[in-house]
Amino acid sequence: MRSIAFTNQKGGVGKTTSTINVGAGLCLQGKKVLLVDLDPQANLTYSLRMNSQRIEKTIYDVLKGTTPLEEALINHNGFDILPSSIDLSGAEMEFANEPARETLLKHSLSSLEEYDYVLIDCPPNLGLLTLNALTAVNEIFIVLQSEYLALHGLSKLMDVIKVVQQRLNSEIEISGIICTLFDGRKNLNNEVVGHIKDYFGPKVFDTIIRDNISLAEAPSHHKTIFEYAPESHGAKDYMSLAKEIKNGS
Ligand SMILES: Nc1ncnc2c1ncn2[C@@H]1O[C@H](COP(=O)(O)OP(=O)(O)OP(=O)(O)O)[C@@H](O)[C@H]1O
Ligand SMILES: [Mg+2]
Repeated sequence: MRSIAFTNQKGGVGKTTSTINVGAGLCLQGKKVLLVDLDPQANLTYSLRMNSQRIEKTIYDVLKGTTPLEEALINHNGFDILPSSIDLSGAEMEFANEPARETLLKHSLSSLEEYDYVLIDCPPNLGLLTLNALTAVNEIFIVLQSEYLALHGLSKLMDVIKVVQQRLNSEIEISGIICTLFDGRKNLNNEVVGHIKDYFGPKVFDTIIRDNISLAEAPSHHKTIFEYAPESHGAKDYMSLAKEIKNGS
């Protein structure tokens, strides 16, 4: 089982879009996939759940230990989702004094064996929830927007990863860099991807995710890109990325 956190404390860089569509792409290739929504904004959950589908229990109940993980799962056309909700926004404070506060997610996911991939969508900060993700996984993907300042602030994320490696999870490594929202017409975007490759070398996936309107539209239809616009650039890019990820295992 590969467990992967999609991270970047910067907001709006494509973490949620990538978690959903990499997961859906892996699912279409026959893999068993669980998507974990670890963000109190619950964007992943609301991007996929059908309106008629009520959410009874969420990751908040699971982390609290009041609901077994299996009871909170919802299914979306072949893959599973551990949903989130605004309830999670108090978690950082609520769990702050628990001795095992950084390992709550690891503990919650420990009984899972049936999945090939567990993909975690992190919130845009380096707080307790992100620490829980980094402690629970064996791989980290950093999601970067191909724009000016893409690498700005990254040293903070690197510091946190180092601390987690030393204190909580010696297994983790950054195993992939995803460049998103790429507009090839802009010289700047090409330049930025060049800088990202200089910095991270071969960890940068060959597939660059292009700026594609269908990717922005799909969530409002509660669909993955493969369901919403299977012929779009977005679908092609995320399928190509999912294949790269699968072959790199
Ligand atoms: N390749 C793309 N082309 C066009 N729009 C995109 C693309 N990727 C993401 N978007 C849109 O950009 C916005 C931000 O993307 P997303 O929610 O995935 O980022 P995020 O990093 O998860 O944000 P947050 O930090 O707030 O959780 C969303 O409206 C999304 O639909
Ligand atoms: Mg998000």
